[in-house]
Amino acid sequence: MAASLTLAVLVSGRGSNLKALLEAIDRGACAATVGCVISDRPGAPALSLASARGIATHVVPAKAYADRAAWDEALASQLAAAAPELIVLAGFMRIVGRAVLAHFAGRIINVHPALLPAFPGMDAPAQAIAARVCLSGCTVHVVDDGVDTGPVLAQAAVPVRRDDDADSLHARIQTAEHALLPAVVHAIATGALVLEREAPRYTGSYPEELPRLVSPPLL
Ligand code: GRF
Repeated sequence: MAASLTLAVLVSGRGSNLKALLEAIDRGACAATVGCVISDRPGAPALSLASARGIATHVVPAKAYADRAAWDEALASQLAAAAPELIVLAGFMRIVGRAVLAHFAGRIINVHPALLPAFPGMDAPAQAIAARVCLSGCTVHVVDDGVDTGPVLAQAAVPVRRDDDADSLHARIQTAEHALLPAVVHAIATGALVLEREAPRYTGSYPEELPRLVSPPLL
């Protein structure tokens, strides 16, 4: 059990989940340290957020490499140099490849804006709207070699309202993500959640900080 888990956070966009993690760390609710932030996109706002806090940032753009395998090797090298205890994909829009998985198998988690296994892949909130479900949410799961297929660690549910579009639903889901992701990282940091390959398990009772399925007053 680490007193403070060292993280590498992989981002492609806005970085609201990175911000939520950093704020939870600041208020002592998440026993982690963000050692570095890595993006595949040079202009990702999440990078400025990290730099403003003095966190090391790196960009590994896919375009700079001959093919996907070369990009994956470069990302694996960058991560190996940072030597994180846990890798957090927080809005990272590319699939990590074999080199990264080989180095860090079972130590990579992702936050996804749907209740997996429903709506994996891109545009999950739009998929939920199209399917006319009345409940969606977010999932934190272990990353394996599939698309959003690894073992689920925790989920939080939100209502889908009749007048939602993909953006309004995504905004509601993101509020849930901002509580769920730091809580899961904290559970891993304290040993309450153990990431054993294929079968992550909670060592005691389900941690209080993790949201439980909420049946909201709907519509
Ligand atoms: C989140 O909704 C996350 O579930 C998905 O990408 C989005 C990233 O948002 N994987 P942000 O960059 O953290 O604001």
